[in-house]
Amino acid sequence: MYKQILTACTLSGALLFHSCSAPASKQEIDIIPQPKSIETHTGHFAVKNNQTIGYADAKLEPAARYLQELLARGTGYTVNVAEGKGDISLSVTADQGIPGAYTLEVTPKEVRITGNTYGGVISGIETVRQLLPPAIENAANAGRNTEWSIPAVSIADAPRFEWRGFMLDVSHHFYTKEEVKQVLDLMALYKLNKFHWHLTDDQGWRIEIKRYPLLTEKGAWRTFNKHDRGCMELAATQDNPDYLLPESKLKIMEGDTLYGGFYTQEDIKEIVAYAAQRGIDVLPEIDMPGHFLAAVTHYSHVSCSDKPGWGKMFSSPVCPGKDEALEFCKNVYSEVFGLFPYEYVHLGADEVEKTNWKKCPDCQKRMRQHGLKDENELQAWFVKDMEKFFNAHGKRLIGWDEILDGGLSPTATIMWWRNWAGDAVPKATAQGNHAIITPNFTLYFDAQQDKKTLRNVYDYEPVPEGLDEKQKSCILGAQANVWCEWIPSFERMQYMTMPRIMALSEICWVEPSSKNWENFRDKMVAHLPRLEEMGVNYRIPDLEGFHSTNAFIGEGTVEVSCIAPGIRIHYTTDGSVPTEQSALYTGPIKVTETTDFTFRSFRPNGKKGDMVKTRYVKSEMAPATEAPAAEDGLKAVWHEYRGSSCKEIESAPVNGEYIVPDVRIPEEVKGNIGLVLTGYFDAPADSVYTFALLSDDGSLLYIDNELIVDNDGPHSPREVIGQKALAKGLHPVKILYFDYNGGKLQMQAADINGVTTPFPASCFKH
Ligand code: ACM
Ligand code: ZN
Repeated sequence: MYKQILTACTLSGALLFHSCSAPASKQEIDIIPQPKSIETHTGHFAVKNNQTIGYADAKLEPAARYLQELLARGTGYTVNVAEGKGDISLSVTADQGIPGAYTLEVTPKEVRITGNTYGGVISGIETVRQLLPPAIENAANAGRNTEWSIPAVSIADAPRFEWRGFMLDVSHHFYTKEEVKQVLDLMALYKLNKFHWHLTDDQGWRIEIKRYPLLTEKGAWRTFNKHDRGCMELAATQDNPDYLLPESKLKIMEGDTLYGGFYTQEDIKEIVAYAAQRGIDVLPEIDMPGHFLAAVTHYSHVSCSDKPGWGKMFSSPVCPGKDEALEFCKNVYSEVFGLFPYEYVHLGADEVEKTNWKKCPDCQKRMRQHGLKDENELQAWFVKDMEKFFNAHGKRLIGWDEILDGGLSPTATIMWWRNWAGDAVPKATAQGNHAIITPNFTLYFDAQQDKKTLRNVYDYEPVPEGLDEKQKSCILGAQANVWCEWIPSFERMQYMTMPRIMALSEICWVEPSSKNWENFRDKMVAHLPRLEEMGVNYRIPDLEGFHSTNAFIGEGTVEVSCIAPGIRIHYTTDGSVPTEQSALYTGPIKVTETTDFTFRSFRPNGKKGDMVKTRYVKSEMAPATEAPAAEDGLKAVWHEYRGSSCKEIESAPVNGEYIVPDVRIPEEVKGNIGLVLTGYFDAPADSVYTFALLSDDGSLLYIDNELIVDNDGPHSPREVIGQKALAKGLHPVKILYFDYNGGKLQMQAADINGVTTPFPASCFKH
């Protein structure tokens, strides 16, 4: 299996180690995130049996043990650990830089890692790990006759941000202790150092609280919900077992099949210690006052009414008007504080349904008592009351950016996620509050992936424009969040997060001026064999060479490629799901009739990628219309539409009409948006035109009354590309688009690699 990758990947730097005796060349070094400076020297350090890892300070012993485990696993060698100098030596200097910086010196005689903190030493260890062949990751390689060499280098490295985070939601679906440890392993490999553990939500309570046993006895288990059923359906329609609920997370009780699981307090301590050894702080989140259904259902005296359930958008929150409810929240957190040594704790406080509070006499009494003018202020009062309690126990509060609504305390840190609340970070940092950047539209790794997603993460700049230096210094860093409604298995979670974690790692570590997409993409490909050795179910990079609709005149050629090594591509033309028994793509395919292809890539171990459908349409040059001379721009009609399909927009009432210069949302259009743009596309010449329609949420493109791009349905920003052969002149065009709360709409010309450029405004007429 592994050999196959080697032959297919001659350019992959990480693999050249196998044949190395020459001086270390640039190609051999594919470190993610990119170090600040690398100097290569002649020769290698060889890892051999019975070497010693020395540590300068007893505090570094866990780091030495960690490296010992990494080295012993793949080599099968005995690796010793001892205080003092060794063949590999670890030490810490009292450097004032951002925690995580390190220097690494590799000579043929020794390896020296000097961190500015414990975390800095771990960063150095991860660089050494990535300088070793990928085979080091796999115990199956132990005892093989491999040369375990590390190229001679001097590296001086430091992170851009102190906060390099990853959030895992274990409530919507549950991940075991061993699975969480594997998440921490991957985080460490890519120098991520804050593990945000979303432990509770409406769909399941996952942490043992001794004082309130029902939270886990009952709150950790549920009958299948709509997401569980949806996942099982996807397992069938997508032919993907990773969408199945693992049997180990099911149990039968009183005749019902229940889904769930939780961590005992001993499990939590074990995971926190495991993370600490890898230089990772664990940030627990017990989400309240909303997203608290798992608690209010089983302890209903903490809710406003004794019938907690669902409101219009969100679940019944805790009742901040009742003293016993506040006491409940604080008792829960008292136990949490004892399990998590990290100074920060996350209160959640997102998406609160406040209608119950309006009706609740206790809530209204609390508001009168404290002069609070509305329920937003009641929420702010609750957050501040909890923050006082946190602070009294030596903890600092983080909350989702909703904690700004109704007034923020001067010391809380916001976690910005609502990209539609664009003023949250400027506002919070202007007050001197710290912010962690986790926007929904780029850094939510539960969003489905396409050709652009990895690049979108890589290109993302966490510091918003327009902040002054003082505000900038309030940005602690960035974090990706993975919400697991649609991610029922650990395999699926790895698929959604890798390789995006690599891009996250770079934006958290590397200065914007040092970023380089092409270099990063090559390094990402070079890292796939390492993930293969680690058994990580990474997502295969997208197949390239086609759009969702492709037009040809006469005879077309279908040419498909994948940048990842060792990938096999199978396809069907009858709409069925490709399997490993379907036709194997071996080279360009000629088409003379309109043909629908379904492609699917397979990893060397048989694991499947996404299915991609593409249509090759045999075309005639569509004649231009004899429309009367037209004016510039497109006509835009705004309908008051709040729904989930472009096809319904035109039956909604009209709010206004506008002229736009090209495909865009008119400035005046906000809130419930159903938009219909009509006019002509003025083709400058006879040609096949490629239309890239990008929208958040759905959109449709018709040209000459033919559907060319179907990008409909609720979704985050997504681009779909279609083609049509057009004769020079005017062609009727219609674009439908819907969104709630201000999204995105753009149509550009695309080349075969998906690179887009704007159409000149002269192409749009009405
Ligand atoms: C969130 O995504 N509700 C923080
Ligand atoms: Zn209440």
